[in-house]
Amino acid sequence: MTDVPSIRLNDGNEIPQRGCGVFQIDPSETVEAVSVALETGYRHIDTAEMYGNEKEVGEAIRASELDRDEVYVTSKLNNSNHRPDVARRAFDETLHELGFDYVDLFLIHWPLPTLYDGDFVSTWKAMEEFKADGRARSIGVSNFQIDHLERLAAETDTVPAVNQIELHPYFQNREVAAYGDEHGIPTEAWSPIAQGEVLDDPVIAEIAEKLGRTPAQVVLRWHVQHGYIVFPKSVTPERIRENFELFDFELEPGDAEAVDALDRGEAGRTGPHPDRFDYTPG
Ligand SMILES: NC(=O)c1ccc[n+]([C@@H]2O[C@H](COP(=O)([O-])OP(=O)(O)OC[C@H]3O[C@@H](n4cnc5c(N)ncnc54)[C@H](OP(=O)(O)O)[C@@H]3O)[C@@H](O)[C@H]2O)c1
Repeated sequence: MTDVPSIRLNDGNEIPQRGCGVFQIDPSETVEAVSVALETGYRHIDTAEMYGNEKEVGEAIRASELDRDEVYVTSKLNNSNHRPDVARRAFDETLHELGFDYVDLFLIHWPLPTLYDGDFVSTWKAMEEFKADGRARSIGVSNFQIDHLERLAAETDTVPAVNQIELHPYFQNREVAAYGDEHGIPTEAWSPIAQGEVLDDPVIAEIAEKLGRTPAQVVLRWHVQHGYIVFPKSVTPERIRENFELFDFELEPGDAEAVDALDRGEAGRTGPHPDRFDYTPG
């Protein structure tokens, strides 16, 4: 098994740089996928209330030989739950579903600036309570743009421990990631392989061929060398194992720059724009 580096967060806690995500994994497949990941050696699982599989993530961790504190668990506040009193109930429910008395990291899933009168600040203050009472070891945000982060900095006392944003070779989201670097907010890269879209790119295929690695490993290694935290999703055991092997090789001089050059800017974005996204379930 290869060792995974930890990234130190601004609150003193540490997060394993590599994990696995469970977005779009049906609850009926989640215990199996997470169990394969834990057997492979992953110690970091990224779920969300919105994914509908927190319960199965908890089940898989309990079914493993591992102690709770050996696995880093992230979940996220759903979009319908931003009002502070609702957020408090939703966080209780997340812990109940997982079957744990704490999460390692809890995130506001989307800023939703067009909803709730644009008020994500009171939501963040509710998150600060979860950190203060120890039930969320760290708190962070997801899909926050620079102006959203600046508002939290101006109006609250806690700097988010991470910002989880869409980031892959075709959409490198450089301004938001650079803001994070400058303000002690590590970047978590969601859809790190753009749900497979970047894997047929000839530049990536050529590097993979040269290094004797797969395109997914090359892309994930590129993230790691940029210092990003990654948690690719897969339900396929061979891919779960493939995506694990990122710390026994390096890109060669010029390779990372060649991947950097694939950035398509805004045209490469695959998911919704955080300034406009206003989906609330139910
Ligand atoms: N905060 C947010 O708003 C947000 C949004 C999206 C995602 N996320 C998080 O980020 C995680 C990862 O993002 P994602 O799930 O959108 O996409 P992703 O990890 O970029 O890609 C997943 C897709 O790629 C395939 N795949 C995985 N490994 C592969 C490999 N080695 N070779 C070929 N294909 C491979 C998977 O197929 P199979 O499963 O069929 O193997 C799946 O279709 C999510 O699970 C979630 O935890 C967060």
